[in-house]
Amino acid sequence: MRPLLTLAAAALAVLARITPAATPTAPPAQGEQAGRSGPLPSLAEAYRGQFLVGASVSPGQVIVGDTYRFIRRQFDVITPENDLKPLLLARTEGSYDFRMADQVVDWARKNGVKVRGHCLVWHQQAAPWMFTKDGKPVSRELLIERMRKYIHDVVGHYQGKIWAWDVVNEAFAPGDPKVDTERGWRRSEWYQIIGPEYVELAFRFAHEADPDALLFYNDYDTENPAKRDLIVALVRDLQKKGVPIHGIGHQAHLYLSRPAPAQLEDTIKAVARLGLRNHVTELDVSLRERDGAPLDGDEDELLSRQASRYADFFRMFRRNRERIEAVVLWGITDEMSWHPLEEPLLFSEMEPKPAFWAVVDEAARPLQ
Ligand code: G3I
Repeated sequence: MRPLLTLAAAALAVLARITPAATPTAPPAQGEQAGRSGPLPSLAEAYRGQFLVGASVSPGQVIVGDTYRFIRRQFDVITPENDLKPLLLARTEGSYDFRMADQVVDWARKNGVKVRGHCLVWHQQAAPWMFTKDGKPVSRELLIERMRKYIHDVVGHYQGKIWAWDVVNEAFAPGDPKVDTERGWRRSEWYQIIGPEYVELAFRFAHEADPDALLFYNDYDTENPAKRDLIVALVRDLQKKGVPIHGIGHQAHLYLSRPAPAQLEDTIKAVARLGLRNHVTELDVSLRERDGAPLDGDEDELLSRQASRYADFFRMFRRNRERIEAVVLWGITDEMSWHPLEEPLLFSEMEPKPAFWAVVDEAARPLQ
């Protein structure tokens, strides 16, 4: 289902330029009519003054159809879910295809929505040509030069248009037996060819290309104490060397039973103590086990547990609103999620789930 939707949206996207201003006679966008009574509340409005609320999007959602009106009303921030990744932007060396991402970024600018750029350096969805030359692994010097040029070209292309970049994504995987690691560092091609300095270099190059962009290190399981320690040590090292880093992105792909909000809160506080911003960058709450196995319980019960989990986490985010600048969901509606079977988002078929109402209700609840 998902690839078909993505392909259809992509095909339409190249044919269509959006018309952002909705005409007064236009029908309400999907989801806008649903509600307990009256119009659907806006998440962005509900949390105004606490932190920004956002979601990842695909180009089709802002370029075709009328979902863009819904997005503009619900969110302060969007993250293109895939279109700013090297694999999609730079299929061959020195040639870029910015068409999809440009349309999303231009739409956001015209509609007063901020953009998080995701991501510049990652072991997945990297551009494979970067790591080889003439069929052999590339030298350290050439990989650094290719990384420098890529970051300068891409961040430079969006200078002044992208609010915050995930400069490096998922450099650490401590204690994960499925990942090849060294002292907690993921032995990605970046790490193996350049060494741990690849992180520092990426941040320096990004800052050169857009001195005003906010630069983030982004990772999953940031509540894991071993990963927290590695992130804190990395930030201290970068700060000691005068490398520009402005924040930590917490992906927050959550499950019904783990982690506890207090675990993520500990990391959020540790980041704030370092003087950095916190963004929650990829929030969702899976309705399955971590290995994808179904959970016991009927659908209504699971949806209600999911709603409580969302509320618990938003309560923790509110307690830490001085430390958290933005909370971004990894998608809008379950069918378009990276894990549709896990039904992890606030909407299903663009209609609000119990979790949506729990998040809205939480916004105004007294904090003890
Ligand atoms: O672009 C190709 C298209 O050309 C091809 O026809 C189609 C066939 O399936 O695949 C398309 O690529 C897909 C891509 O998303 C774009 O839609 C890939 O198969 C698919 O694997 C890829 O998945 C993305 C995944 O990152 C890649 O690792 C997910 O949509 C995206 O949600 C996910 O996002 C990551 C974050 O970047 C980092 N944190 C974890 C998060 C979830 O995995």
